[in-house]
Parts: sequence; C-alpha cells; structure tokens
Amino acid sequence: MAAVPFDQLDGYIWFNGEFVPWKEAKIHVLTHGLHYASGVFEGERAYGGRVFKLTEHNQRLHRSAEILGFKIPYTVEELDAATIELLKRQGFADAYVRPIAWRGSEMMGVSAQNSRINVAIAIWQWGSYFNPAEKLKGIRLDIADYRRPDPKTAPSASKAAGLYMICTISKHAAEAKGYADAMMLDYRGQVAEATGANIFFVKDGVIHTPLPDCFLNGITRQTVIELAKRRGYEIVERAIWPDELSTFSECFLTGSAAEVTPVSEIGPYTFTPAAISETLMNDYMREVYPAEAAAAE
Ligand SMILES: Cc1ncc(COP(=O)(O)O)c(C=O)c1O
Repeated sequence: MAAVPFDQLDGYIWFNGEFVPWKEAKIHVLTHGLHYASGVFEGERAYGGRVFKLTEHNQRLHRSAEILGFKIPYTVEELDAATIELLKRQGFADAYVRPIAWRGSEMMGVSAQNSRINVAIAIWQWGSYFNPAEKLKGIRLDIADYRRPDPKTAPSASKAAGLYMICTISKHAAEAKGYADAMMLDYRGQVAEATGANIFFVKDGVIHTPLPDCFLNGITRQTVIELAKRRGYEIVERAIWPDELSTFSECFLTGSAAEVTPVSEIGPYTFTPAAISETLMNDYMREVYPAEAAAAE
C-alpha cells in the first residue's frame, strides 16, 4: 500500500454534490458519525474504467441507510452519475470506490433526528493485481474470538460502519499471529464469513456456503453463485458448523475487494485450492472486466 496517507492523495472527492479538492474534503471532530457510528458505506471496484455492479452497490447504500433510520438525500441514479463522473476526473481504469453517508454535526447525542445526512464518494487507484498462480497458493485465516451478532442485536443486513468494529479487532488479532485475516463464527457458533468477505467451501465437487442470515449477502457472493450455477456446479446454502471444516477440500472468500481469494488454512484446518476455486476465480475476473477492455489486452 502507498506510504502516502489517504487524506493526502490527489484529485477530487465528491462531497455533498460537489467535486472538492481531495485534501480539502474534511469534516468537524464533532460529527455524529464519528462518535456514534451513524454511517453506512460501500466498497466497489472499477475494472477497465467501469465500476462493477455500481447500481447494486448504490441501492445497497440506500438500504443500509434506511436500516439505520436515515434517508440518503441523493437518488441511486444521482450517486451512479457522480461515481462515473468522479472516476473520469480521477482518470483511473482500475480503482477502488468508497461511497459513505453519515450523520453530521447538527446534534451531538444518541438522538440526532435532525442531523444533516452527508454523502461523499472517494476513488483511489487500486489495480487488481491478478496473478492466478500467486492467488492459488491461498491465504491463511485465524478463527476470530468475536462473533457476528444476532440480527436482533445489530442491524446485520446494513453495511454499517459500526459493524466493522469487531472486524478490525479480529483482523488485527489475526495479523498479529501472522495470519492474513480471520474467519468469524456467528452468534450461534456457525461459520459466518471473514472480516470483509463471504466464505465458500467445496466437498466432493459440491459448493457449500453459509446462509446470509446475520451477515451481508455480498454482491460478489451472489455473482459467484450465479457463475457457479452457469458452470453447472451444485451450490448448497446452509448452516455450516466449525467441526465440518475438516471435511472440506477447498475454501475461498468472495468480496468486492477480495474478489475470489482461495484459502489454504483456517486455524488447524487445511485446504488445497483446486479446480473449483481456480475456475470461479477466473470466471469472476472475466465477468468484472468490460468486454472492450478485455478485448484490448
Ligand atoms: C463483512 C463483509 N462481508 C461480506 C462482504 C462482501 O460483500 P460484497 O461482495 O458486496 O463486496 C464485505 C465487503 O463488502 C464485507 O465487508
């Protein structure tokens, strides 16, 4: 990652309807979103100058905000158009896109009914360094201490900033032990997902993945399920218990940032990335790249 801090990059940030110079896109310390995590965001990737599933992401941003009790003051179409224009201004073909919406500074307390809803979009360069041989080695995951909460305890269908508190703690703990990331169980003790990606397993040629009933049903997860079905693979969405991990041969993560990332270890369990992980990894890359960009390569 670049050594330059993220607030010191160049270009523009779309901020409440205007294109603001990057370094000037600031907010006050007394911002409700900072103190009370009243914010929702998205993570998207642009490939070859086009944001993959842009509208789906902006629709989810709207849904996430509604779940937290606020309405984003820009339509999905306006957010789509702002993102497309910003990507052009930033001049990147392969990039990461981060829209965020949060309650402002008008009220400081648990209740903030009349706070302004702010919206910003930032885009920074992030190539999809796709080296299949390297990726196929797989990453190592620890098993997190924290669990994904019961949907009655937290708004788990929202991509809400507050839900990432336990993800950062868990990922830091895993990294301190030399792992790339952590797999989280849910409040029942079932396998849930990684700290920023969904999880899939393979047993006897069949793909198994947990039901997304207390974590995000990722846009990449849904795309990969579709791609797997196109290939004729059988997919079973069901409760998966940790004692089953020893019975799976392959494991991979899916997410807008992670794309399709094979996993070689989860704590004491080992997996060998093989045909299904590789096929879906390659199918996903073909799916995300616009046909024109792929043809020009
Ligand atoms: C906790 C978590 N789960 C799953 C995902 C995958 O979601 P998507 O595929 O929509 O990026 C993400 C990434 O956004 C995430 O942060």
